[in-house]
Amino acid sequence: TGLEKFVDELPQIPVLCAFQEEQSGAMIKPANLTIGMFPTRWKFHRDLPATPVFAYGRSHKEATIPGPTIEARNGIPVEITWENHLPKKHILPLDLTIATAIPRHGGIPTVVHLHGGMNDPASDGHSLAWFTPGFKDRGPAWRAKSSFYRNAQGAANLWYHDHAMGLTRANILAGLSGAYVIRDPALERRMNLPSGKDFDRVLIIADRDFNKDGSIYMNSKGNNPKIHPQWQPEYFGSVILVNGKAWPFLRVAKRKYRFRIINSSNARFYELRLSDHSAGSSSNDDSGSLLTFTQIGSDAFYLPRPIRARRLTIAPSEIQDVIIDFTQARRDEVLLRNTAAFPFPGGDAVDSNNGVVMKFLVAPRSSQQLDPSTIPRFLVPIQRLAIEQSSSARQINLYEFVSSSDEPTHLWINALPFDAPATETPRCGSTELWSVINLTEDNHPLHLHLAAFQVIDEARLSSAEDLRRCLLANGNRMNASCNAARFIDRSSPRRRPPRNEAGWKNVYKMKPGYLTRFLVRFAGIDGRPYPFDASAEPGYAYHCHILDHEDNEMMRPLKLR
Ligand code: C2O
Ligand code: CU
Repeated sequence: TGLEKFVDELPQIPVLCAFQEEQSGAMIKPANLTIGMFPTRWKFHRDLPATPVFAYGRSHKEATIPGPTIEARNGIPVEITWENHLPKKHILPLDLTIATAIPRHGGIPTVVHLHGGMNDPASDGHSLAWFTPGFKDRGPAWRAKSSFYRNAQGAANLWYHDHAMGLTRANILAGLSGAYVIRDPALERRMNLPSGKDFDRVLIIADRDFNKDGSIYMNSKGNNPKIHPQWQPEYFGSVILVNGKAWPFLRVAKRKYRFRIINSSNARFYELRLSDHSAGSSSNDDSGSLLTFTQIGSDAFYLPRPIRARRLTIAPSEIQDVIIDFTQARRDEVLLRNTAAFPFPGGDAVDSNNGVVMKFLVAPRSSQQLDPSTIPRFLVPIQRLAIEQSSSARQINLYEFVSSSDEPTHLWINALPFDAPATETPRCGSTELWSVINLTEDNHPLHLHLAAFQVIDEARLSSAEDLRRCLLANGNRMNASCNAARFIDRSSPRRRPPRNEAGWKNVYKMKPGYLTRFLVRFAGIDGRPYPFDASAEPGYAYHCHILDHEDNEMMRPLKLR
């Protein structure tokens, strides 16, 4: 790409309030919102012609990339009617050899999932709850024209995005995603973190490739075209976007900022680092940088206490909530860099394009602002789950199925397609121990709808290949002869998760060649039962959040009882 970096300013994403305030804040009432999906054009870079996109907004004119940030209040529900105003034809290539929503009357199927939300199955955005313009065609799991979001889970960082069967990778690539923040003003006041729209910002990071005419590039030919004419295992772009701009800059004062960082990329992981080395230095070594992230939350949950880190690894769909204190910057320019190989972790090294995310321009000290914010020693306490609390144990096998040319054909979990009857059927209110075995070469960010979990440990497998063969020979079922425990490498210790990911999570990076164990609570994080019938139809799902994997059925139903 010949695009110059740091020429566009990081945009403020427009905010949509999900509640009504009456008598200047004295009364907070639920609201109804209507948000549409529209075909429009978006300037991703000063020198790039406006790009045809699909975007969320209250109207065609207000549709933005990313979509508006929806701000909800804890305890105040909102009803959102999502409307599909998309054209007949997609702007990106599709592949009907993977399981795809196909409407009888044409049009582009869409459905919105509120990622991290604890909501009724009918409002969860099930992949088969898709619909076309005017709700003319509807998938078998579709229930109602509007979704009811309870916002009863405490202060949380969520995001909303498309989830239509077999189309998610293309619909999100076309622009259908946005942030959703549940605020708890009393808690926020007590914690005294950086606040207000200038100092508390959402950063939505995504990679794209563009054609010369500005249109989004997505391959029209797959890696294994005889089997999948278009689908490929991972989409990677060389342009890094933050809030819909390529490599933007942000002017910051010498003070603390809060960034709620969301990775909305299809397949790219980021290892974010701050570097305040002199311009042009391309050294991968940041040991000289004084700037660190102070992480306060992960996914939809606060950590029990802040964790300082030089490096922040963020998988597709993960959310990392951090504070950066620019008083520590040694120069007036700070780069946010990325060092994650793609595919992660064993793929290609980043280059001067995809290795750069954005730049902070730090105002001189003379203009130092009063910074009343603080980073408290303790954030939100969490109840630690113990294995003894779990009522059942499950094993989840991740491996790829490949063709004779060694290209992936499909990525079924437990060797089952998405539409095979649910096998993960936990009881409402229970806690379960899940062991996920990753026999592939790549890291898969596994996401559970509805439920939150705590990672216990990760153990290296002695021979992933032997275990894989054993599973294949046994009809893909775990049994006594190929129990994963037999394949654990006894010489390498079980590892605890990194401290910044040891709290509640709804996505976790499943390392290749590892067995990852976590405890899932099928109730609120406080242990209280869900305030709704979570066992109702159409149920939920869990899946790999590499969108190209999810679309090729690395997804299974999650059906509570
Ligand atoms: Cu963020 Cu099932 O998705
Ligand atoms: Cu995956």
